[in-house]
Amino acid sequence: MKALELVDTARRMMMAGKGLLAMDESNPTCNQRFAALGIPQTEEARRAWRELIVTTPGLADSISGAILYDETIHQSCADGTPFVKVLTEAGIVVGVKVDTGAKALAGHAGEKVTEGLDGLRERLQAYAAIGARFAKWRAVIAIGAGLPSVACITANAHALARYAALCQEAGLVPVVEPEVLMTGDHTLQRCAEVGAQVLHEVFEQLHVQGVLLEGIVLKPNMLLPGLACSHQDGLDEVADATVTGLLRAVPAAVAGVAFLSGGQSAELASARLSAMNQRFKSQLPWALTFSFARAIQQPALEIWRGEPGNVAQAQRALQHRAACNSDARQGEYLAAMDDLGKSSVLG
Ligand code: 13P
Repeated sequence: MKALELVDTARRMMMAGKGLLAMDESNPTCNQRFAALGIPQTEEARRAWRELIVTTPGLADSISGAILYDETIHQSCADGTPFVKVLTEAGIVVGVKVDTGAKALAGHAGEKVTEGLDGLRERLQAYAAIGARFAKWRAVIAIGAGLPSVACITANAHALARYAALCQEAGLVPVVEPEVLMTGDHTLQRCAEVGAQVLHEVFEQLHVQGVLLEGIVLKPNMLLPGLACSHQDGLDEVADATVTGLLRAVPAAVAGVAFLSGGQSAELASARLSAMNQRFKSQLPWALTFSFARAIQQPALEIWRGEPGNVAQAQRALQHRAACNSDARQGEYLAAMDDLGKSSVLG
């Protein structure tokens, strides 16, 4: 029974032409993004921003699921309608971030392990009772001199697998997010090596814990050269490396793959996703879509800046980015159309 429910939820999350919207920034992360734009870092400002997002007209045309944060999943619109109700009625599946953050890994300077397993069974039951149908857990892996260590990869993969098993027990689809960071001067080749190591360990641990692959969504990074690498590979090289790496490591039974954006510009994230779908469409055993936070929200946040008078324009910018990524998921994103759309948003 649970298996059927999980598979059905995962299919709805991976619906043709759509992707996931990550709006699950923790309060400190959300506050940091607000501070950079001079927006007050208050609970009310965070609520108003999330209301702007969930009430964006046409959002459900491109977005199949939204990932909320603990504070947000309990919040409501100014008129009292809970966000969960607004999203569910629009046909958007509700998810929630359930890890409690990446903390320093003992004995391994510069590396982190994600925490949050204690009490997770009870928290998942509570989230399911208020309407969540999927969850997210993010592990972070840094590349550097001598990094990542085997200790970092195995500790994070083990935690991801235990989280995934608990989610499935509660009837929630786990979004499994092992993020290899873009920070550093490493090459695309080095990112591909680390990405392969990480994905092989994650799927090994998922297998050990008995996780149903048809009932998970993988949320990986794209394989990219480090931000400080002197050679920045083109769209086709990134698309080929990323899809080849995924085809080698991700079992065909997995319901879908939805990328994080990781600090790429909104336009590059769309162009890279589109190149992957365009070049590999007929060879992919799983859906290849997006689960972006910054690459969907940032342009709209920069328009909103906490001003009620900017809400409609910010919503148009958000809808535009979501639509660009919907095109990209189908291999049909065009930078020229993106520019045209942006000028119409700005009026
Ligand atoms: P970005 O798309 O901004 O990387 O965020 C995705 C996410 O959910 C990180 O956990």
